[in-house]
Amino acid sequence: MYRSHSCGELRPSDTNKEVTLSGWVQKTRDKGFMIWVDLRDRYGITQLMFDEERTSAKVIEKAKTLGREFVIQVKGTVIERESKNANIPTGDIEVLVSELTILNESIVPPFTIEDQTDGGEDIRMKYRYLDIRRNPVKNNLMFRHQVGMKIRNYLSQEGFIEVETPYLIKSTPEGARDFVVPSRMNEGQFYALPQSPQTFKQLLMVGGMDKYFQIVKCFRDEDLRADRQPEFTQIDCEMAFVEQEDILNIFEGLTRNLLSEIKGVEIGNFPRMTYDEAMRTYGNDKPDIRFDMKFGELNEVAQHKDFKVFNDAELVVGIAVPSGASYTRKEIDKLIDWVKRPQVGALGMVYAKCNNDGTYKSSVDKFYDQDDLAKWAEVTGAKPGDLICVLSGQSHKVRAQLSALRMELAERLGLRNPEEFAPLWVVDFPLLEWDEDTERYHAMHHPFTSPKPEDIALLDTNPGDVRANAYDLVLNGNEIGGGSIRIHDKETQALMFDHLGFTPEEAKAQFGFLMDAFQYGAPPHGGIAFGFDRLVAILGGQETIRDFIAFPKNNNGRDVMIDAPSNIDTEQLKELNIQLDL
Ligand code: AMO
Repeated sequence: MYRSHSCGELRPSDTNKEVTLSGWVQKTRDKGFMIWVDLRDRYGITQLMFDEERTSAKVIEKAKTLGREFVIQVKGTVIERESKNANIPTGDIEVLVSELTILNESIVPPFTIEDQTDGGEDIRMKYRYLDIRRNPVKNNLMFRHQVGMKIRNYLSQEGFIEVETPYLIKSTPEGARDFVVPSRMNEGQFYALPQSPQTFKQLLMVGGMDKYFQIVKCFRDEDLRADRQPEFTQIDCEMAFVEQEDILNIFEGLTRNLLSEIKGVEIGNFPRMTYDEAMRTYGNDKPDIRFDMKFGELNEVAQHKDFKVFNDAELVVGIAVPSGASYTRKEIDKLIDWVKRPQVGALGMVYAKCNNDGTYKSSVDKFYDQDDLAKWAEVTGAKPGDLICVLSGQSHKVRAQLSALRMELAERLGLRNPEEFAPLWVVDFPLLEWDEDTERYHAMHHPFTSPKPEDIALLDTNPGDVRANAYDLVLNGNEIGGGSIRIHDKETQALMFDHLGFTPEEAKAQFGFLMDAFQYGAPPHGGIAFGFDRLVAILGGQETIRDFIAFPKNNNGRDVMIDAPSNIDTEQLKELNIQLDL
């Protein structure tokens, strides 16, 4: 028996018990006549004590050879500590050691394995298995497990069945590039790793599975950000005989349950906002509604004066920054530099201070009098003491820029409290999105998303205005999940392919299997997929999903620990009939 107790378990009530513990040496303190060792395992830390008077000389001698991260087993007696440590749950006791076995030695680790470490990000990624021994990473992984269990239980109780779908598939028609896998047995042909199990879950509905879910790996060859990994996990779901409302209700229920059970936060009905409203009010389809700073469109009150910049703009739009009137000239200049950074891309920023005495002072006083500025304040909701920041230009660009500024200011003002949760549904997404590069419409969600029946007539005249039965779940400014009601009849699907520029032959080549299946009685169906990594990170009060993944990739898509991707040898390439021309 390696252990009778874990290193996080013993308390004063265990005093005088004979125990066996196993774990890693975190730290040793050698005072000559006494040696203390912090012994660590997944469950905590227990202090071991070797005492010249009570421990045999042989054991003391061995204890003196212990180095950091040695794996040891000890037998001993639980005693009450003289100087207690209130910071750890086992801090009232220690184990007076009588037997010590070194189970394995360790070379000196490249960084200290404690909550506060001296290891930088790169070195910790290379030795991720050591980083996992540290509480911050270990706790995140345990938290992920806990959230996963709750989700599985909830969905199972709601009658969902977890079904596994294949990883070696044919390209799925979604936004990103596929990762591909060469087939040895089929010369010159490739599998693709799924970007999501989209088509398979729809086929499961044709198969009568009715309520499906899967916690599943998805693969997308796209540029990485804090909330994106090339392989990530979805909570993927699909239901038959449902309308949009049924899906929103079930998954709102799941999210509410998680917030309540995991965070102790009770939230009523989630607000719903149309895509148009989200874009107009927050410049963004994933608004963070924990704080206000709503957009005020100023065209009516700011154009038709002599200020050419505004007159030439498609949209003039501003936000009120709480207490911003106290910003110094230097601080405002810095803010202007911030919006002019290439990542944001604004050409400049106009501002108006709302003084506490009810007067205004703007950067464009030459063109606007106090009455004009009072109207700006009214439209943006600015109060005395606030600062109005105004950007102008092409609508879609200026909205994105002001949205970036809004988020940045909220961050600086401490308005993005990670312990506050503000979920909402964004609904009525456009069905199609114009792509500047290819100069044609693409499906905004995917080609199986159902248009709103009342908008179908617009497909021929104003395709960009057609709305879809598509929805996103947004939490604290992050897109947590997205889904749609699917097209289940052949005619509408053919119409969609036509509008997406597929010839019937191309459609058949890419999605023939799905269209074939739909001829055998496809039920009305729809679904949603949550980004599991994102959900866990946000519930954990953070936004970097890498910290909640056991073995993540770095920003160049590399696993620096195992050194992947890597070259493969010529024999392997030959077997796969691949010739590299480097
Ligand atoms: P979608 O593409 O919106 O929908 O993906 C669903 C959710 O997955 C998460 N997500 C990611 N998380 C981490 N890294 C990534 N690279 C990444 N990409 C997406 C997001 C997103 O909301 N098949 C459809 C769902 C459906 O229609 O049912 C789909 O995949 O949180």
